[in-house]
Amino acid sequence: MKGYHIKGGRVLSGKIETSGAKNAALPILAASVMTKGENTLLSCPQISDVDSMISILTALGCKVRWEDGLLSVVADGIRGCRIPDHMMKEMRSSVFLAGSLLGRCGEAVISNPGGCDIGKRPIDIHIDGLRRLGAHIWQTDENIVLKAGRLRGAKIRLAYPSVGATENLMLAAIAAEGLTEIENSAKEPEIVDLQNYINCCGGRVMGAGSGTITVEGGIKLHGCQYRILPDRIEAGTYLLMALATGGEIMLEGIGREYLDSLLQILDGGGYRIRCSETGIWAKACGFERINCMIRTAPYPGFPTDLQPQMTAFLTKNGKGSIIEENIFEKRLEYAKELKKMGADIEISEKQVIIKDNHILCGVPVAAKDLRGGAALMIAGLMADGYTDIADTKYIKRGYSRPIDKIRALGGEIIEYDC
Ligand code: EPZ
Repeated sequence: MKGYHIKGGRVLSGKIETSGAKNAALPILAASVMTKGENTLLSCPQISDVDSMISILTALGCKVRWEDGLLSVVADGIRGCRIPDHMMKEMRSSVFLAGSLLGRCGEAVISNPGGCDIGKRPIDIHIDGLRRLGAHIWQTDENIVLKAGRLRGAKIRLAYPSVGATENLMLAAIAAEGLTEIENSAKEPEIVDLQNYINCCGGRVMGAGSGTITVEGGIKLHGCQYRILPDRIEAGTYLLMALATGGEIMLEGIGREYLDSLLQILDGGGYRIRCSETGIWAKACGFERINCMIRTAPYPGFPTDLQPQMTAFLTKNGKGSIIEENIFEKRLEYAKELKKMGADIEISEKQVIIKDNHILCGVPVAAKDLRGGAALMIAGLMADGYTDIADTKYIKRGYSRPIDKIRALGGEIIEYDC
C-alpha cells in the first residue's frame, strides 16, 4: 500500500494545466465500443480509472494504445460481450458498457459495478431504461445478463437525473430503431461532452445539458479525433488547495461556467477571482471569511464531487458554515479523519457543521474514497506539521500526477510505502 507524506504550512501558488475530465473520458471510452475505425482521444487523463477501462476494452477485443499523450482506440475487433467480474469491480463506470455492448453486440454480461464506497449506488434506473428500449435483463448468482434482439426507440423519463443512467441510455439508444427521448436526464457538462463525441462520430444526439435528450437511433458510428473537456473537479480541487494555504493559482484550460457554484461562494467570502474564456485566477488575501450553507445537488448545483474538498477548506475560516450531502448517503467518511486532525466540526448523517475556525494538526489519516482522499491532501497542506495519508490508490483513480502538480505549486509531498 502507498501513502503520501505531506509537510503542511507552506503557501501554494502557481499555475496548473487542467487535465481532461475523468467523468467524460470514461463514458466516451465506453461509447467508442460502438464505433468502426480509429478514435484518437486528446486530453484523456492518465489515471487508474482510465487504465481500468482500457483493460476492459482490451479484454473485449479492442486495440488501445497511448501514443505521445494521445489515446488511440479501435473497436473493430470486438469479440465478446462479457466483462470479467474482477474488472467490473474496479470502478463504477464499467456499467456504461452495458448500454454500448447491448448496442454493439445485442447482449452484455456484467456484474454489479464497483467504485468508491460512497453509498449503495444501485443501477435500477439504468435497468428500467434499458428495458424500456426493449432489452431483456435478468440476474444470475454472479451476473446481470442483458439481451436484445433489436432495440426500439422509446420515451423514457428518469426517476432521478442519474449521470450514469443518462449516459448508459444515450449509448444504447444509438442502436435502437427510431427516436429515443430521455426526460429528466442529468445536465452535467460531461453529458454534453459525451453527446459531442457521439456526434463527432456521426451520431445525431441533441439536448444534452437541457434535461431532455433526444437520440436518433440506427446510425452506425465511425471513429473520430476528439478532445475531452477539462476536469472541473480536478480544477476545483487545486483551486481550493492553493487558497486554503493562503496562496494564489492560475487554472489554465477551464472557464468559469464549469465551476460557477464554487466561485460564487469564494467570491462571497472575499477571495479575489478573475475569469477568462480559458482560465481562472484566484488569490487569498488573508482576511477572507465564509459562512454559508452548501447543499450538494445535480448540476448546475454544487457538485457532490467537490463536497469533501470544500469541507476541508472551510475548517480554517468557514465558522458557522454547513455542508449538506444530498447525492450519496455515505460521502462524509472523510470528515472523521478531519476531526482526527483537530477540525472543530460536528458530523451528522447528511451534514458537516463548521463549529469554529481551527488550524489543523498533521497526523496519520486514511483515505476511504477518491474525493475524501483529495480532501485529506488539502487538509495536510493546510495543517501544522506532517500528515501521512494512507492508501493513495483512491486518489490516483481520479487525479493524474498529483505529486508533480502539488510540487509545482510549492507543496512538499512524497510517496512512501505504508
Ligand atoms: C457519476 O456517478 C460520477 N461518476 C460521480 O463521480 C458523481 O459523483 C455522480 O455522477 C454524481 O454527479 C462518473 O461519472 C464515472 P448517479 P454515478 O447515477 O453515475 C442514485 C467521482 O468522484 N442512483 O448520478 O454513479 C445513486 O445511488 C465520482 O468522480 C440510483 O438510485 O452517479 C446516487 O445516490 C463519484 N439508481 C444518485 O442516484 C441508479 O440506477 C446519483 O448517482 C443510479 C443512480
